Amino acid sequence: MVHRSELSNKLLTGGTGEIASIINYYSGAPLAEREALFSAALEERRKYYGNLVFFRGLIEFSSYCKNDCYYCGIRRSNRNAVRYRLSHEEIMRCCAEGRRLGFRTFVLQSGEDLYYTDERMCAVIADIKEHYPDCAVTLSLGEKAEESYRRYYDAGADRYLLRHETADGQHYARLHPSEMSLENRKKCLYTLKEIGFQVGAGFMVESPYQTFENLASDMIFLRELRPHMIGIGPFIPHRDTIFAGEKTPSVDLTLIMLALIRIMLPEALIPSTTALGTIDSQGREKGLKAGANVVMPNLSPPRHRKDYSLYDNKICTGEEAAECLDCLTRRIRFAGFEPDFSRGDGPVMYAVS
Ligand code: 5AD
Ligand code: FES
Repeated sequence: MVHRSELSNKLLTGGTGEIASIINYYSGAPLAEREALFSAALEERRKYYGNLVFFRGLIEFSSYCKNDCYYCGIRRSNRNAVRYRLSHEEIMRCCAEGRRLGFRTFVLQSGEDLYYTDERMCAVIADIKEHYPDCAVTLSLGEKAEESYRRYYDAGADRYLLRHETADGQHYARLHPSEMSLENRKKCLYTLKEIGFQVGAGFMVESPYQTFENLASDMIFLRELRPHMIGIGPFIPHRDTIFAGEKTPSVDLTLIMLALIRIMLPEALIPSTTALGTIDSQGREKGLKAGANVVMPNLSPPRHRKDYSLYDNKICTGEEAAECLDCLTRRIRFAGFEPDFSRGDGPVMYAVS
């Protein structure tokens, strides 16, 4: 039996030690205990979102990246990575297809690709907003200067996703080269929030060297930042990285973290990620049942999908957008939820006082 308010209190006020011991406890707890945690998270999500699952159309428009994150398959030093870049027109075609299929949010994601200057990016954003004024534009382009973020916002972008990856500086340094810093990443997130974006942070679960204390630091960072969106997913090794030989985790710890985050920040928009679906054929459904409330099917042209390879064995790389949409709506209904194609900006109709 989970005392939800007691748990939420501990998560909102506890230090790393206390939170780490909660995570540790659940990671070794019997299935019944973990299921009670998931039910508590589900109940919490129900208050703000009912049964709804929001859909976002993901457009992975460039696999070029100037960064070299050690865990990522499209890091610049991976000579085996096939690089592609969609043109402005190709991005617009993905949006047209997405809009036709019913999407009201487009997520433009890429590596940190210098070809897409502020001018080019803003032209894409403005074009999408002009053609589809009822749609939200979410960006996921990495770390940029404040001025660039402002220009994207002024061009009409609504949301920005930038996972912090890990909130522990030492852990961060083991996953990234020294030219990247946790400090700058956090600064970007606070800047984005201040500009007025709906902001998404998040991290990988079971990334190399990660401890329960690290995960506790992630929780503490999230409760300080209070992002609108929180993206977490399991770390999955990529064959062309130094972490190729690491083990692929089970879904267990990711589900626990999803549930704890839902209980700590009940109004958050939390995706059940493709990475979760990759390590378990029912992963996305399990994520929704542990408190997630968003899915992000892929709208990128199938011919490029396998080349946006952050980790091995990614699912849905052979399917057309319409096929994934069909598959995912059926799965979601079967799991007892209701696909929702509104913009899904936040809690809607179930808020209770
Ligand atoms: N396994 C799982 N997730 C990964 N990401 C990058 N590489 C991997 C990997 N090997 C995640 C990062 C990034 C997001 C777009 O994908 O958290 O922010
Ligand atoms: Fe892509 Fe099922 S969601 S094939």
